[in-house]
Amino acid sequence: MVRLTFLGWFGMSIVSWWYVPSALPWLLLLTLGLGGIVAIIDLRSRRNAHDSPPGRLLVLHGVRALARRDHYLREFDQHGAYFKMSQFGQPTICVLGLERIGRLIKGHSEYLEPSTLPISKSVEGKFLRYMSPETHAIYGRIFRIAMSGPFASTDSDQLDYICSRHLRSFSAIESSPYPALQSIARRSLSLLLLGFEAGTEEEARFDELAQKFSKSGISRSLVRRDQEMLAEMRKMLLEKVNLNKTGPKGIAGTSVLARLRQQDVSMPDRICLDNIIVMHRIATGNVSSLLSWLLYRWASESAITAEILDEDPEAREASLRLFLAETLRTSQSEYLYRRIAREFEFEGHRFPKGWLIRGCVWESHQTAKGLEEPATFRLRREAARPNQRQFVPLGMGAHACNGGEVNELICLAFLRRMANAPDVRVTDAYPLQRQLRHWSHWQPNAAMRLKLGGVE
Ligand code: HEM
Repeated sequence: MVRLTFLGWFGMSIVSWWYVPSALPWLLLLTLGLGGIVAIIDLRSRRNAHDSPPGRLLVLHGVRALARRDHYLREFDQHGAYFKMSQFGQPTICVLGLERIGRLIKGHSEYLEPSTLPISKSVEGKFLRYMSPETHAIYGRIFRIAMSGPFASTDSDQLDYICSRHLRSFSAIESSPYPALQSIARRSLSLLLLGFEAGTEEEARFDELAQKFSKSGISRSLVRRDQEMLAEMRKMLLEKVNLNKTGPKGIAGTSVLARLRQQDVSMPDRICLDNIIVMHRIATGNVSSLLSWLLYRWASESAITAEILDEDPEAREASLRLFLAETLRTSQSEYLYRRIAREFEFEGHRFPKGWLIRGCVWESHQTAKGLEEPATFRLRREAARPNQRQFVPLGMGAHACNGGEVNELICLAFLRRMANAPDVRVTDAYPLQRQLRHWSHWQPNAAMRLKLGGVE
């Protein structure tokens, strides 16, 4: 990528020298200016690097991680379990090994803080992941209880309905699955988190707002238009919760919103409402991205899917869970980020204040000790199943993901649909790609296309 950029720049200079010679000095000046800025950033990063792990604090070197999924693995091969790099000028210490990451993160909580997403600043009381410990002690707990189920069996029927409705068109024509996957994730989350039943008028209204709200980037604070949208969604949820009463004690239903009220009549307050809306927004991205991996794996791991399709319903259900776990392990899980608030030392390395730590979860899954062929996708049954030292896709400690249950319900409904369409074909899924950010997720190619044969 760096070479391509350099070649592109060089080509542009030649063309401009040939056709618009007067522009050449400006182009050179711009090149020198940009080069100067990058050199200053590199120098500033290196100033405080003594006794930190090995590696290179060069912006241009760090850019390689955006283009190659195995970049971190190669660096670990070269340097061992720790190396430092520059993520667009931000010095970052990368760490390999789930057990080590656990000791580092959980054992140094007073030295570390979250690497906050800017959207959190626009959320009343901040988003769960980034709340102060005192606020998180209250809201982290009530959300965890509300999100741990059990969900009603009618929810599963509804999820099945949502999946089949959005997948129907692929039996007739081959096309991009991404809009359908987004819709499945968004509408399923509207059901489980907020209690909006698919196909109703209120669901359609909320979905329209949610689609607009999804355009607001999470890597910046909300602008006025987005804040107005947030207020409208908040109002809708409050009306829903207040209208949907079964009696003085609370409201019916198993949605997370209903369970918040069932726990405490003063809930959901403004903090809960903002959090659940932003959670819906962020989780739509997580779940739809995981669905694209499930789809890709289902289509490409034909020996495994044939084995699952041969099983009786009970065994098949268990295998679908393993299929989901293995997709999370090999494809979707990525990292845990933390910001260093106070300097400390760990395993002989200095962790300077202001730097980031990237716990490399995907790389740790790929190289887990004691797991047979950890980089290979396979159904890991009973004794061969990975343990906590080999498999942590949903994080660890007080801030571990509380959406595991919700995620599993949606993904299993989707996989059951896949199992009903024995001929699942995807094309153009390679090369894998990601956005130009170090924390964005790898995904099958945006050009991927899907065709379903034999849908029941
Ligand atoms: C593809 C599926 C998902 C993956 C891989 C995933 C991964 C994670 C990870 C690794 C963390 C910990 C982050 C950290 O410690 O810095 C986390 C936290 C969190 N996740 Fe998920 N997640 C997924 C789906 C969901 C869903 C469906 C929801 C909600 C419905 C959700 C809600 C949350 C929340 C609220 C937190 C913060 C919890 C707290 O701080 O109390 N996630 N997730």
